[in-house]
Amino acid sequence: MEKSPSGWSYRLSPRLLLRTRPRPRAEAGEQIILVESGEAFPPGHPSTRLCLDLLLEVLGGGSLASLLDVGCGAGVLSLAAAALGVDRVLGVDLASRAVRTTRENARRNGLTGAIRVVQGSSDCLKAPFDLVAANLPWEVQLDQVPELHRLAAGGRLILAGFRDNQEGPLLERYQRLGWSVKRRLVKYFQHPELPPHLSFNWVAWLLTEGLNLNGKSINLKI
Ligand SMILES: C[S@@+](CC[C@H](N)C(=O)[O-])C[C@H]1O[C@@H](n2cnc3c(N)ncnc32)[C@H](O)[C@@H]1O
Repeated sequence: MEKSPSGWSYRLSPRLLLRTRPRPRAEAGEQIILVESGEAFPPGHPSTRLCLDLLLEVLGGGSLASLLDVGCGAGVLSLAAAALGVDRVLGVDLASRAVRTTRENARRNGLTGAIRVVQGSSDCLKAPFDLVAANLPWEVQLDQVPELHRLAAGGRLILAGFRDNQEGPLLERYQRLGWSVKRRLVKYFQHPELPPHLSFNWVAWLLTEGLNLNGKSINLKI
C-alpha cells in the first residue's frame, strides 16, 4: 500500500490496482479500481491493508465461491474480491452511508452485478460463506464472535480492527468454538505526537476451523 500525492493505492495483481484517485492514468494493460470513501471508513487504514494482504493469500491458494464482507465501509474488500473473481460477494454494514458508498463504488467500477450490498446487521443472512472478512472495532469483534462463527462455518475468517494487546480474549472465544489462527499479520503503529511506549501493532488473523495443517495452532505468546 502506498500513500502519495496521487492518493492511496494497493496493488492486487500486476494488472489490477485499487486507488483513491483517478490520476495518474492507468498504464497500458493496467486496470484501476477507484475507491472513494465519501463519508464511509477510508480505505487507507492499516487494518484494511492487512485484510487485503490476507485476502490475496487466500486467493493465491485457490478460487473462492463466496465472500461476505461484514462492515463493508467504502467497500474496499468487496471490490477487491469481486475484481479478483470471487463469484458471490456480499457486503453488509449497519451504516447507510457505508452501504451507499459501496454501491456507488461498485457502480463506478462496473461491478454492480458482482457485489450485493445489504444495510443492517448480518443476523438475517443465510450461512455459510467460504470466506468471511470482518474489519471491525475490538468491542464489536467480541460481540460478533457467535455470529461470525455461524456465517463462516466450515470456511475461513479474516478478522482485523484490533491491536496486539487485545488479542487474548478474542482468541479465547474463537478457540472455544474450534477455530485456530492459520496466519497472523501485524502492522506497527506509532502516533507522531505520542511517546514510543504508547505504540502498538494492528493485527489481522486468518482463522480456520480445527487444527492447522501442521497439527497445531499458532502460539501467539500473549
Ligand atoms: C473499520 S470499518 C471497516 C471498513 C472496510 N471493511 C475496510 O476494511 O476498510 C468498520 C465498518 O463496520 C461497520 N459496522 C460496525 N459494527 C457493525 C456490525 N455489527 N454489523 C455490520 N457492520 C458494522 C461500520 O459502520 C464501519 O463501516
